[in-house]
Amino acid sequence: MNSFISSIKKITACMALLASVILLTQQSLAQEVGDHQYTSDAIQAGSRVYTQQCALCHGPQGALVDGVDLRRGQFRTVQSDDDLRNVITTGAAEGQMPAFSLRAEELNGIVAFIRAGFDPDGVAVRIGDPVRGRELFNGRGDCASCHRVNGAGPRTAPDLSSIGVVRTPASLQRNMLDPATALLPINRPIRMVTRNEETIVGRRLNEDTYTVQVIDSQERLRSIKKSDLVSYEISDAPSKQPTTLNSDEVADVIGYLLTLRGL
Ligand code: HEC
Ligand code: HEC
Repeated sequence: MNSFISSIKKITACMALLASVILLTQQSLAQEVGDHQYTSDAIQAGSRVYTQQCALCHGPQGALVDGVDLRRGQFRTVQSDDDLRNVITTGAAEGQMPAFSLRAEELNGIVAFIRAGFDPDGVAVRIGDPVRGRELFNGRGDCASCHRVNGAGPRTAPDLSSIGVVRTPASLQRNMLDPATALLPINRPIRMVTRNEETIVGRRLNEDTYTVQVIDSQERLRSIKKSDLVSYEISDAPSKQPTTLNSDEVADVIGYLLTLRGL
């Protein structure tokens, strides 16, 4: 009998171990798949939960509550994905929006669906904490060594003061992870030599038939007549390397960039 009980104990211990192994694998899988973006499975699951739990008040297009447009990412206080999760699990406006107790996958799915702009086949980029993002931007991420924000920083790379208005989260992310494909034809690094044998290295801002406008390496805005040039090369090589930040940190920097909406 004793040996029977002890083998039951062993089996139970074994099962508990197995369960925790399965849990661990699931967690690391979720982290891998959802590295920089939410999966399309998550978006689609979220679409179903949204219809059941949220559409009643927010409407099928997400714009029925005053001052909130979920599809367009217009909120009252929410910035990051964690903020979104918090509002959903704690409720808002003194109970006008109830607190929801959802399973982790459901919660994850709703955030994904909102970030995908309600498009079941859309792209849902993870958006992290803007405060941490700002620190990374000015610190370890090294972005501020090239980019100017709200009047501070160099002019050799595009000014990012309004970048949150003009770019989508997906294009911001592409720019950080794979700058070569995100390279705009304008903003290309250029190298010119004039008839006076001056070499101008800089960034192309604009160009027409007769002139080209550049920011040179001394950060001066210059307009150069093409007829004064003996050579003019536009570099195809990306002028910057993909970031070395990890996926959480990239999400944080995107969170920060989205808050840059002009002065
Ligand atoms: C009973 C109605 C109701 C339901 C159901 C509801 N909401 Fe809301 N929600 C509201 C109201 C009202 C507000 C505006 C709160 C305010 O004025 O600050 C709101 C605000 C929000 C905000 C913006 C919060 C902020 O501070 O930026 C988000 C995000 C949100 N809801 C998401 C959801 C999601 C996701 C669901 C489904 C899980 C959901 N809501 C279900 C009524 C509802
Ligand atoms: C070595 C200089 C350099 C560094 C460092 C750098 N960038 Fe850039 N970035 C550029 C240049 C130059 C461009 C213009 C496009 C190009 O040539 O790649 C650009 C373009 C961008 C754009 C697109 C601007 C637009 O108008 O669409 C974003 C967003 C951006 N960078 C964000 C960042 C972030 C975030 C970091 C830090 C993680 C960073 N950059 C680090 C030089 C740099």
